Amino acid sequence: MHDPDALRSLHLARFQAEPAIFAAPGRVNLIGEHTDYAEGFVMPAAIDFATLAGISPRSDGKVVLYSENYAKERSFDASALPTEPSHHWSDYPLGVLAILAGEDHTIPGFSLTLWGDVPLGSGLSSSAALEVATALAVTSLLGVSYPGPVLARLCQRAENEFVGANCGIMDQFISANGAKDHALLIDCRDLSFKLAPIPASVALVIANTMVKHAVTGTEYTSRRAEVEAACAVIAAHRPEVRFLRDATPEDLERWGSEMTPNSLKRARHVITENLRTVAAAEALIRHDLRELGRLMAEAHRSYSQDFEASCVEADTMVALAQDLPGLIGARLTGGGFGGCTVNLVEMEKAPAFAAALAERYATEVGIVPQIHICHASGRAHRIR
Ligand code: GLA
Repeated sequence: MHDPDALRSLHLARFQAEPAIFAAPGRVNLIGEHTDYAEGFVMPAAIDFATLAGISPRSDGKVVLYSENYAKERSFDASALPTEPSHHWSDYPLGVLAILAGEDHTIPGFSLTLWGDVPLGSGLSSSAALEVATALAVTSLLGVSYPGPVLARLCQRAENEFVGANCGIMDQFISANGAKDHALLIDCRDLSFKLAPIPASVALVIANTMVKHAVTGTEYTSRRAEVEAACAVIAAHRPEVRFLRDATPEDLERWGSEMTPNSLKRARHVITENLRTVAAAEALIRHDLRELGRLMAEAHRSYSQDFEASCVEADTMVALAQDLPGLIGARLTGGGFGGCTVNLVEMEKAPAFAAALAERYATEVGIVPQIHICHASGRAHRIR
């Protein structure tokens, strides 16, 4: 639950000041995995889980951050904010402050209460929601307003440059720019996007394997390095290829033998995933749900077998969904190595689908999963 009234009460009780309140959503990615940092395509939707940020100015020059999720407060001098991460939840808001300070803003004293319901470490972008909510709150206090794509880039930089996670732009972008009842086909090269309407008859059923995922984890970084190594091999022959976005399946056929076996597989995933993502957006726009489901199945296979970013639990969750009534398409979503699967399901069959999937998974894996029936929600915004 993310309840602005409850956040307001918490903030008032702790800081004796009326907060301005902002919300930033988490996201689910329908297709396009590990393509964002290759300047390719992704198609996420913002979801109805969000982080709330309540902010009020202070006159004592302190920055006081309180997280209700962690039940912890941290206090700093606004003029001497940390420049290094401390591997703590506060790195995300502090990272945003560091980036804003680097943009020549003087950070004033303020109290910030953060409270969200985006499941943590589940591949639903709880950290991006935290960054975007913080950025909206602080920029409003500063009296500046950045366009959504610019805000997203600042938040990505907070994560790359301060937190130390080498993520792409997708999560921050969709949190800052999502549209109700739509997925966004985002071109991660120029940050343009196209709206792909999700029909009212389709539910986003998000199934949490309960296996933890972390973008700061070594696997994400090593996959990214393998992708970049593959790109360097192709670029040695075709210098116009700056990212795998520019490469084709024919490039792999010609020069794949010069890559390590892992790099070749990772590149095959990224290059084909880009093609699938654009095709999936076209399918969604023309309401061809059967084709969309087929592309999602292919994307999962590629993510699991070529990118090797799945795990037994996620493969099982996807397999167990296949013959359940109402399924349109299922795949592992997000950075990989655990987290959630996304299932597009016919709306009226979604409750029965969710119940049956939970039961099957609990029997097969021995873990009770959390399953959420979600809707595509709007972008981060001020609530009051
Ligand atoms: C994480 C990163 C994103 C993206 C995905 C994989 O969510 O934060 O930038 O790379 O993994 O698609």
